[in-house]
Amino acid sequence: MSTTATSTTLGNDYALPEEERSVRRAESYPDLVRRLSRQSVVKHFDAYADVPWESEEYRIDPEDPRWELPEDHGLATTAWYRAQPPAVRARLGLHVIATFMKIGAQFEGVLKRGLLDFASRLPNGSPEFRYVYHEVIEEAQHSLMFQEFVNRTGFDIPGLPPLMRLGTRQVIRFARTFPELFFVFVLGGEDPIDHVQRQMLRSGRPMHPLLKRIMQIHVTEEARHLCFARHYLKQNVPRLGRIRRAVLAVRAPIILAIMSQLMMRASGDIVRHYAIPRDTIAEAYTRNPQHRAETIEALRKVRELCIELGIAWPRLWRLLGIWEAQAA
Ligand SMILES: [Fe+2]
Ligand SMILES: [Fe+2]
Repeated sequence: MSTTATSTTLGNDYALPEEERSVRRAESYPDLVRRLSRQSVVKHFDAYADVPWESEEYRIDPEDPRWELPEDHGLATTAWYRAQPPAVRARLGLHVIATFMKIGAQFEGVLKRGLLDFASRLPNGSPEFRYVYHEVIEEAQHSLMFQEFVNRTGFDIPGLPPLMRLGTRQVIRFARTFPELFFVFVLGGEDPIDHVQRQMLRSGRPMHPLLKRIMQIHVTEEARHLCFARHYLKQNVPRLGRIRRAVLAVRAPIILAIMSQLMMRASGDIVRHYAIPRDTIAEAYTRNPQHRAETIEALRKVRELCIELGIAWPRLWRLLGIWEAQAA
């Protein structure tokens, strides 16, 4: 952590999202934004000062069994994965993590450019300006951590497929032309991965200390980002006209379905690299009720938010396989 706090003070705080802490207080939107900005000053991290990259304990050995996929990952449940030698299972697990980090850094690149555009249109005196700049700075530190991790694995990871990279330009434009849609995209990138990371940290399963450190830092700062995005939407979506609300209702679940899978499945690059059979992929993800349930759970918070905002059309969400049977 920066000079304002020590890196040993993380405690169990990361287990309690910012959002849950703020619910109990009746605070106005500008006050909430100011509070988040102040927290960015007292609790923030530096990618190099706060991660002991050179410590022997933090060194990456790709065949370390701690990299194996957790049992609840779709692919880990397949006979194909279980039949692989331990060294391959570990390498593949590390490859999956490194790919998430690469995609995470690319997503944060889009996010930062969008946020800077968003901030450039804010009036003088807006508390959002300061908050958004804190978020950009924090995302830059995350991307430094993620890219450093990827480099140290030795894998040459392409990350997002070319078509999606092209689509990101449009997302950046939304930050100016349709910020509500931009912040839905932000939640789509941040919420499912936050859910997965919190679950891993809570599980108590043996984890490589480098991965654990990066995830602790990430979830601590992401709690603010998620809180801001949710409250921005709560503040602004009710003011939108009917057409914009309809556009949001159609695009939100599509964005969320795509982004959650990006963060929860092995990438096409990995499938090719390890020659994973097509049937195994179906068994792991598309035909796996457990994976489907996980995805639905990872999107629970953002789905509930869309319901609250009146922009969730159950039929469309159901069609995309991201609506839980008992959801209101
Ligand atoms: Fe981040
Ligand atoms: Fe973030």
